[in-house]
Amino acid sequence: MSQPLEIRRLTYSDLPQVIAIERRAFPTPWSLAMFVLELSKPSGICLAAVHGARVVGYTVCSRYDTVWHLMNVAVDDRHQREGIATALLQALFDRADRPGEQYTLEVRLSNLGAIHLYEGFGFRGAGRRRGYYHDNKEDALIMWRTAPGSGREALDGEPAEHGPLVVDRGSGQRAGA
Ligand SMILES: CC(C)(COP(=O)(O)OP(=O)(O)OC[C@H]1O[C@@H](n2cnc3c(N)ncnc32)[C@H](O)[C@@H]1OP(=O)(O)O)[C@@H](O)C(=O)NCCC(=O)NCCS
Repeated sequence: MSQPLEIRRLTYSDLPQVIAIERRAFPTPWSLAMFVLELSKPSGICLAAVHGARVVGYTVCSRYDTVWHLMNVAVDDRHQREGIATALLQALFDRADRPGEQYTLEVRLSNLGAIHLYEGFGFRGAGRRRGYYHDNKEDALIMWRTAPGSGREALDGEPAEHGPLVVDRGSGQRAGA
């Protein structure tokens, strides 16, 4: 790798590169407008992984009420298994974690690599949404993570008072990370 990996805030000018990665990464990619909307939210955390000027991965996390919703994580298919998603999620938690902070996401049941990645950060499965993905009616696994420090993290997969948030973006669009 010519340049070291840097994790920094995702910006509007990154979006053409992000869209190119997104289209290769997902059967129902987010549109440009969806990324613009997420970047415009002051409470969200959107990060890019870059080698110099080249974007190789990104993550989008939104806060709804008291819960963080991990909306999107993707890595350039030419750079997967290099620890880039791990670096992005670590940077996210470094910024957002407070004791007891809660995170949720949805992931395709078949996406074992992503599930393994999330489990490594303490996410635990806590139910399914049947037929959640519009393209193939695949179920989503709902996962929750509680940031260390409050004692709540012992209750793996058990959200405190909140049911999981649904951000269902309608037919043909992928919801969840
Ligand atoms: C899932 C994804 C984000 C992982 O990104 P990545 O940078 O390759 O992940 P990392 O290199 O940080 O992997 C960390 C760990 O996650 C697990 N993992 C990641 N990809 C995996 C795969 N394809 N198969 C099995 N385990 C995998 C492994 O435990 C890995 O550790 P290891 O390489 O030491 O074995 C990437 O494969 C991707 O962009 N996929 C397409 C989009 C997607 O599915 N996003 C998630 C939607 S919920």
